[in-house]
Amino acid sequence: MQRDADVEIRPEQPSDFDAIDRVVGDAFLAEFGSNSEVALVRTMRARGELVADLTLVALRDEVVVGHLAMSEVTLDGRAAGGLGLAPVAVAPALQGRGVGSALIEAALARAEAAGWRFVVLLGHEHYYPRFGFEPASPRGLTGDYGDHDGWMVRALGDFDVPSGHVRYGSAFRD
Ligand SMILES: CC(C)(COP(=O)(O)OP(=O)(O)OC[C@H]1O[C@@H](n2cnc3c(N)ncnc32)[C@H](O)[C@@H]1OP(=O)(O)O)[C@@H](O)C(=O)NCCC(=O)NCCS
Repeated sequence: MQRDADVEIRPEQPSDFDAIDRVVGDAFLAEFGSNSEVALVRTMRARGELVADLTLVALRDEVVVGHLAMSEVTLDGRAAGGLGLAPVAVAPALQGRGVGSALIEAALARAEAAGWRFVVLLGHEHYYPRFGFEPASPRGLTGDYGDHDGWMVRALGDFDVPSGHVRYGSAFRD
């Protein structure tokens, strides 16, 4: 596979928002036939549910080609240093070139440096293990979206994977 992810990664800013809509919409329409994640990102942002320092864009030649959203999750109803990684999207024409990996690695490094304890996600079970994610259910970590292998967790720093029930922010439950 060609690996030419020559991208700049930085937190999103207001001038990126329209381009982010396009990238997220195009990526999810192509993959799943629905672009409802565009509204999800907008709603999270409007409600202050995005973690600003960890919600990143990938830029290539100063054009947004990827986006990754992070929001805080609760554990058994309480703040526990947990993050939900979702959604992540790369412009279809640039997928498979390491842009998604660059976004995920940057977000995990920033989250760890900031002292967050764990990250959960729902995703492709063959993609995320390369970033240290593992199925969450066997660790006793449940969520609202089933216990299949795509429900995954990664501990950060010296922290252990917690057990309990994870809940995403309100935008995910609309
Ligand atoms: C998932 C996504 C963000 C990955 O970004 P990317 O820039 O293409 O990823 P990278 O180039 O870093 O990595 C490519 C790897 O991801 C794998 N991959 C991409 N999409 C995949 C999928 N749907 N299922 C399994 N693996 C997938 C590729 O097979 C490739 O694996 P390889 O390195 O072993 O060949 C991007 O494909 C995308 O936007 N998809 C549509 C939206 C989506 O599905 N988002 C994630 C929802 S959980």
